[in-house]
Amino acid sequence: MPYKLLFVCLGNICRSPSAENIMNHLIEKAELSDHIVCDSAGTGGYHIGSPPDSRMTYAAKLRGITLTGLARQFQVEDFDNFDLILTMDRENYRDVLRLDTANKYLERVRLMCDFCQIFDVQEVPDPYYGGSDGFDYVIEILLDACEGLLNYLINQKKVI
Ligand code: 4NP
Repeated sequence: MPYKLLFVCLGNICRSPSAENIMNHLIEKAELSDHIVCDSAGTGGYHIGSPPDSRMTYAAKLRGITLTGLARQFQVEDFDNFDLILTMDRENYRDVLRLDTANKYLERVRLMCDFCQIFDVQEVPDPYYGGSDGFDYVIEILLDACEGLLNYLINQKKVI
């Protein structure tokens, strides 16, 4: 069984689809596609069915990453369907764990920035209402965090 990662933000059109596609890019480079699978979701439902934001898509493309997928909302079943749930900011973290009414899944939910190796930040900031710099910054943080996450999964023998 592959190890399953779910990336979660608010709208599932900016940060979490970027994380998903950056992670898939690194997984393919590491030839681990049979061992790790990725998905993403939003805590909110405003953008269900939408493709990634065009500004985010542009910023990702500048770094050689193509954004794919359509937005969906996080659902309680995701706790059982994924091994690790990576949230982009503290609000996403709280909103996900609020749905864990029996307090069963605390260890399965993490902040994405816990895996940063270069950036000293706790959150991936919401770029939605800001300028293009914010989108570039999201990509830079996520490239760092995804590298760190992949190293963690290999070192902790979660894959292979
Ligand atoms: P995301 O960005 O959570 O990174 O997908 C946002 C997208 C949409 C909204 C907020 C953040 N919104 O308020 O509609």
